[in-house]
Amino acid sequence: MSWVLNLVREDLRGFAGYSSARKAKVTGDVWLNANESPWLNAADAAQALNRYPEPQPQALRERMAQLYQVNADQLLIGRGSDELIDILVRALCNPAQDAVVHTPPVFGMYAVSARLQNAKLIDVPLVDNDNEFALDEQMLLSVIQAGTCKIVFLCSPANPTGRSIPRDQLLRILQAAAQRCMVVVDEAYIDFADQTSITELLNQYPHLAVLKTLSKAHGLAAARIGCLIADADLIKVLRNCQAPYPVPKPCSAIAVEGLSAAALEETRERISLTKNERKRLYSLLSQNKAVRKVYTSDANFILVRFYDAEAAFQSLLSNGVVVRDVRAMPQLNDALRITIGTPEENDRVIEALNAIRVAA
Ligand SMILES: Cc1ncc(COP(=O)(O)O)c(C=O)c1O
Repeated sequence: MSWVLNLVREDLRGFAGYSSARKAKVTGDVWLNANESPWLNAADAAQALNRYPEPQPQALRERMAQLYQVNADQLLIGRGSDELIDILVRALCNPAQDAVVHTPPVFGMYAVSARLQNAKLIDVPLVDNDNEFALDEQMLLSVIQAGTCKIVFLCSPANPTGRSIPRDQLLRILQAAAQRCMVVVDEAYIDFADQTSITELLNQYPHLAVLKTLSKAHGLAAARIGCLIADADLIKVLRNCQAPYPVPKPCSAIAVEGLSAAALEETRERISLTKNERKRLYSLLSQNKAVRKVYTSDANFILVRFYDAEAAFQSLLSNGVVVRDVRAMPQLNDALRITIGTPEENDRVIEALNAIRVAA
């Protein structure tokens, strides 16, 4: 048994979860064990949605395991990576006792899940050292060494700053966290980065967990498919903490198709186009008079500071372009986050920002 099981809430270590009809290891050809309808709905032409889906669809699990080069038993599929963040926090953190570490202004769902579980939240803010937002490694290491946190959430590349965490820094954090806490690396945007996935270190560090999603590069945000890749013993425990049927059958079916060789080829082309557009947009934004600062990005978005962020936001909106207003986030009171769209959509961004300059 892996030592990481000691990080699971004591009351959940032996928890068997809900014993669903689909978990029972029985066979037959007349299925009367789940109170399903024996008939298809009139709207259901071919998918046989009258039956509950597999709790962890085997075909998708194997496909994702192959894609991420891990074993299928190291992988838990969920309703987007959001669900897996939530399960991790619930399974590991005793309410009002254990703490979660996050690195604001990075992705708010870690804090939301901590709040819902009444887990303590420790802020280790990123440091804007002029060229890029970096981890405050010293502070992070001392928080880990203090031994009060159960989970450190890192994001690489980070949303909304766009920066990847250097591998040697991640290694130092993993080493400090051994026997102390989980280190979760959210790789939602890694397909757009040059850096390779940290999944290759999973066998070396049982307290490492990696989040993946099909919502970004794979273009399947509405299918709500994400996965957590971690120690196989931990995955077993987390699976028992999950809702009985978390992955709707039409969603897993399209995800399997969406990870076929042909679909992956197209995804790779789009990633390449996105990276080219990121470079073009970075250069155009850097020259724009309304822009105070553009951050380099390894993701499919760019974080931009403006001299007058309200004017920029309004000009974009009045030209029909909706970007993410991140001004309420710590350290970002003059910033907007712009997703890289198609070349035509990116042109619209530049046109709208040029319009402010003309008006000024
Ligand atoms: C860093 C990060 N992690 C996770 C998610 C959530 O992804 P999913 O759609 O898989 O729930 C997002 C969504 O924007 C994100 O930015």
